[in-house]
Amino acid sequence: MTQTQPAGARSPVVQLQDLHKSFGALEVLKGVSFAAYEGEVISLIGSSGSGKSTLLRCINMLEVPERGTVSIDGEPIKLRGEGNHRRIADEEQIRRIRSELGMVFQSFNLWAHMTILQNVMEAPLVVQKRDRAEVEREALAMLDKVGIANKAMSYPAQLSGGQQQRAAIARALCINPRVMLFDEPTSALDPELEVEVLRVIKVLADEGRTMIMVTHDMEFARSVSDRVIFLHQGCIEEEGTPGEVFNSTKSARLRQFLNAAQHD
Ligand SMILES: Nc1ncnc2c1ncn2[C@@H]1O[C@H](COP(=O)(O)OP(=O)(O)O)[C@@H](O)[C@H]1O
Ligand SMILES: [Mg+2]
Repeated sequence: MTQTQPAGARSPVVQLQDLHKSFGALEVLKGVSFAAYEGEVISLIGSSGSGKSTLLRCINMLEVPERGTVSIDGEPIKLRGEGNHRRIADEEQIRRIRSELGMVFQSFNLWAHMTILQNVMEAPLVVQKRDRAEVEREALAMLDKVGIANKAMSYPAQLSGGQQQRAAIARALCINPRVMLFDEPTSALDPELEVEVLRVIKVLADEGRTMIMVTHDMEFARSVSDRVIFLHQGCIEEEGTPGEVFNSTKSARLRQFLNAAQHD
């Protein structure tokens, strides 16, 4: 039976339903469900090993969950088989959907043999097969937006870590993604370089981009998020607005986690 939706209700940009993921005997995700709506910024927080990266990687099927569904703009990603034999069922679909998800990892993953501009232009040209002149204009605008237009002709090794990560963000933006996924984008950076990356992410949040971000930076999560989700041992232990999660914490585990994070 199809569910009736209230008039004007939109599908979430990203919807996760009952995701389960194990690695061998280790059950990492134990039934995680949430939805990100247009323009929402969601921060995922939790201890190391709680399953944050795995959850993010399930959204674009870098990890295939044994159970549960991921839908993008209301379209479920097709999987076939059962349990740990589950596989991507439709390569064409996943290619299209991945091209709508901008992913930024801890490590910047830029191509060392390409200039920054070439890095940013690669996916729009090769995957999206767009017009070169138009892509170049857009790529330069994105580099300008993240504050490294002057590095367009440099190679990744000639940039600081913070500049490389901003190039990675420009690259993700250039595919015009429906949602930006960040996995601890500043954890490999020195504090003074962290600031410039956080500033860029804040600008994107203020522009109303839909974003799901794993972060260890509680102050940043508080300042940038509409909603904060605390993952504990593969389950959502608590979620709410930053005010609810940080100021009126209900879960004792979350309180403990926040105390420990303060003393890092
Ligand atoms: N590809 C993998 N193979 C085996 N174990 C993994 C793999 N990826 C993650 N894990 C394990 O799953 C658990 C959760 O990892 P992860 O999702 O990276 O947590 P977090 O990002 O919250 O630190 C950890 O115990 C980790 O060692
Ligand atoms: Mg992680």
